[in-house]
Amino acid sequence: MSADDQVLVGRSITKRFGGLVALNDVSIEVPKRSIVGLVGPNGAGKSTLFGCLSGLTRPEGGSVMLNGRDVTRTKPQKRARLGMARTFQQPELFTGLTVREHIVLAHRVRFERRRLWSDMVGPRSIMKPPASETEAVDAIIELLEIERLASMPVTALPLGSTRLVEVARALACAPDVLLLDEPLSGLDVNESEALARALVKVVTEAERDLSLLLVEHDVATVLAISKKIYVLDFGQLIASGTPDEIRSSDIVRAAYLGDDAVSETAAD
Ligand SMILES: Nc1ncnc2c1ncn2[C@@H]1O[C@H](COP(=O)(O)OP(=O)(O)OP(=O)(O)O)[C@@H](O)[C@H]1O
Ligand SMILES: [Mg+2]
Repeated sequence: MSADDQVLVGRSITKRFGGLVALNDVSIEVPKRSIVGLVGPNGAGKSTLFGCLSGLTRPEGGSVMLNGRDVTRTKPQKRARLGMARTFQQPELFTGLTVREHIVLAHRVRFERRRLWSDMVGPRSIMKPPASETEAVDAIIELLEIERLASMPVTALPLGSTRLVEVARALACAPDVLLLDEPLSGLDVNESEALARALVKVVTEAERDLSLLLVEHDVATVLAISKKIYVLDFGQLIASGTPDEIRSSDIVRAAYLGDDAVSETAAD
């Protein structure tokens, strides 16, 4: 695969916190229009890698390429304008706004900053939004099948639906690559399945090229929906490959289940 096929590439990223090596020479590639998984036990360095890729954390070594452009020294806001969006482990939504208003705001942050709050607060609330905005927001609501939630205040939503709002809001920034940090955490089985289906759908059905880099503890879901998976452990990349390769990797099993589990299986 040539460099042109990758939307996001992190090369030899190293990050230390004092004496702790949170990431040691980690490289990762996210091809266009695909879902790539990133898994690993607690403290493995997954969120730190997101920080380095999105620009909130400055690594000691390595480089980041976004759409073929070196963004290693580029600020997070600029990386966002160049096509990268991310969600955080702890979603933060605005209590006073509806689901639709969240998506509208995100769209305006990206495309029309000067109209940010124009028809949400104050006397100009009679101003009608432009058709392009309404169309873009409607398309995201339809894609994620959240029509029935659109006019609800976010405070009225269960956790599973707030995760969908997070994804919707990130999509409204029209990213080429979206970094999702544990979008399924706290969801029940049905909610997880619904969100996983929605993620596959946004990548396969979106009109524009879109890729997801998915950090998730729910390894079964990651294996089910990702084209390629990277496995981190104590800041080291210990494996990468297709779902089948990861499933059959002794190294991965040892990292997750302990070495005993692997030798027990080997002895069967
Ligand atoms: N700002 C920080 N200062 C000091 N140490 C940090 C900081 N951020 C992360 N760490 C440490 O770096 C290591 C990697 O943390 P990170 O949050 O990236 O792991 P993670 O894989 O996202 O874990 P989890 O699955 O629990 O979210 C951990 O040992 C963590 O304690
Ligand atoms: Mg984390």
